[in-house]
Amino acid sequence: MTTTNTHYQSFYQDFLNDPEAFWLKQAQKLNWFTQPTQGVSQCDEQLDHWFADGELNTCYLALDHHIEQGRGEQLALIYDSPVTEQKRTYTYNQLHEAVSLFAGGLKNLGVEAGDRVVIYMPMVPEATIAMLACARVGAVHSVVFGGFAPRELAIRIDDAKPKLVLTASCGVEPSRIIEYKPMLDEALELAEHKVEHCVVFQRPQIKAQLQAKRDLDWQAILEKAQPTDALPLPATHPLYILYTSGTTGTPKGVLREQGGHAVALNYSMQTVYGMQPGQVFWAASDIGWVVGHSYIVYGPLIYGCTTVLYEGKPVFTPDAGAFWRVVEEYKVNALFSAPTAFRAIKKQDPEAELLAKYNVSSLEKLFLAGERLDPATYEWLQEKTGLPVIDHWWQTETGWPIACNPVGIEMLPTKAGSSTVPVPGYQVHILDMDGSQCKANEQGVVAVKLPLPPGCLTTIWGNAERFKQSYLSQYDGYYLSGDGGYIDDDGYLFIMGRTDDVINVAGHRLSTGEMEEVVAAHPSVAECAVFASKDSLKGQVPIAMVVTKEGCAKEDIEIANEIRSSIRAKIGAIACLQTIQVVERLPKTRSGKILRKNLRQLVDGEQIKVPSTIEDPSVIDEIKARWISLNS
Ligand code: COA
Ligand code: AMP
Repeated sequence: MTTTNTHYQSFYQDFLNDPEAFWLKQAQKLNWFTQPTQGVSQCDEQLDHWFADGELNTCYLALDHHIEQGRGEQLALIYDSPVTEQKRTYTYNQLHEAVSLFAGGLKNLGVEAGDRVVIYMPMVPEATIAMLACARVGAVHSVVFGGFAPRELAIRIDDAKPKLVLTASCGVEPSRIIEYKPMLDEALELAEHKVEHCVVFQRPQIKAQLQAKRDLDWQAILEKAQPTDALPLPATHPLYILYTSGTTGTPKGVLREQGGHAVALNYSMQTVYGMQPGQVFWAASDIGWVVGHSYIVYGPLIYGCTTVLYEGKPVFTPDAGAFWRVVEEYKVNALFSAPTAFRAIKKQDPEAELLAKYNVSSLEKLFLAGERLDPATYEWLQEKTGLPVIDHWWQTETGWPIACNPVGIEMLPTKAGSSTVPVPGYQVHILDMDGSQCKANEQGVVAVKLPLPPGCLTTIWGNAERFKQSYLSQYDGYYLSGDGGYIDDDGYLFIMGRTDDVINVAGHRLSTGEMEEVVAAHPSVAECAVFASKDSLKGQVPIAMVVTKEGCAKEDIEIANEIRSSIRAKIGAIACLQTIQVVERLPKTRSGKILRKNLRQLVDGEQIKVPSTIEDPSVIDEIKARWISLNS
């Protein structure tokens, strides 16, 4: 099973021999306005940038280029919305027309290269059109996931300082309609930064109230607009900011640059996903997450595929056959989703009877990422579909896979629990606490040798120090991924989970630190700990343990309900705490650090490894007895 003497190995060696030449060769595959001659270079802040002397436009590559190549009548985008019973398709010509016109609308509103535009929208084609239109005029978009509450949106608005916010009147969840506009209004009230305008796309389900002068109607903007051409931009021009959870309550604005991003995504569509231009690629995710940015919007379009924008769920829209219906209807060649989506399907349809109803013969591969792929889901998918089930590992920060089974080079044998091997372009190392290299099979922190390849974050928006501090300062010459894991004798990478306070709930990345801030703000709470417990559907779910203030007269249930509502209101429904347990005290070290790991072990029924530094070991038994009595 060793990876030596394989096509992969020689491809990887090619990269190692001369990384800059390797990437410049990949860059040549794109239609630049000015071809780059420079690989990696450093700016004044000592941060790495790729292809600094090249000029391009990401929107041009994603649309105009394909039309120039004679692919204008190929489908670019398929919109399928079981929640609204709508379907719509766009050829490359049609998408180009819609994007150029909206880009003209942005220009009429005074949006210029470098201006930020926040996009708070559901999964409608207009959201994709807005992203591409921003790229066309050089505006930096920042898409905020529709499931986030006003406070979260306000934090992002204050950080990105956009000229404009683009929104829709509502999102449609299977059980309810979510009005976006009142949430945006509340966020704008909370934010210190004042935006010039909000452009509102009115959906037929709900008509939003527009505030005179500030709010503008999407359609009215289009009526006054003229199509606009793609603006040539330096490769280092920022394409977007995407906020992701860190260990603190302040999300990090991952900044992605145009040139490296386009090169990396084009390369990954071929190497990682083994796609051909003209094929149908479906990432069943949301444009609010990195998977949506990279593999609903930019990757498939830059590479000339047809992409699917699906406004629905894996189950209940209307049933667990939804994914298979979409595959049949649009002859999808590759499907990418999070393990949690397939766990939901498996739960509803364990014998895959709904799968048998559809012709999914177009489907060649299934890709999974976003969280650990558990063996039971992996085996079920393989058995029921008979397809290669490919686990791959990456993060918002990298924007594209770090480790995968490189099917575009060759399909390597798989190993359960492993995301296979580093993608050529990444040098992955396992380091111990002192920064020394771990031996094969020895667990440590997973780090990537600098420079990071093209397409990865180049900084945190407006905070280069935080970028260096969070990712580059721990180990000299390495990027710290935040994940722990090991590499085995055959060079296979096993990701074992986060080493920080980031958790993954139903494929959504959340910060326990941020949740703790909200829980601690409850007037009855003296102190608290939020941690993740294992869940058979969502992978992980957040649990809070709270100690109430002296003399608190409220019932535990009342406090729990208030905390739960507060989390939903301040972060969003996706962060909903599963259990809130009031306890007498929390386990701590003698220096006062809360032992969250012990709490997680206790709740998950694992062996509790109490450190010698614990202040009072009896706390653990006390909480355990209470947990068992309340949860058995
Ligand atoms: N806008 C507003 N609210 C949203 C939302 C959105 N875009 N997405 C989710 N929510 C809300 C839901 O309505 C739900 O609210 P409720 O508690 O009031 O019912 C809450 O957030 C939790 O939603 P979710 O995490 O989706 O859980 P669920 O139990 O409704 O569904 C799954 C479970 C597994 C079907 C669902 O989590 C899923 O499809 N997961 C896959 C996610 C995914 O693809 N992630 C990929 C990232 S790569
Ligand atoms: P996000 O930034 O939301 O994409 O989340 C990134 C994190 O999700 C990673 O740091 C990992 O902890 C986890 N993750 C993503 N893909 C995988 C995978 N294939 N296996 C295990 N964990 C994964």
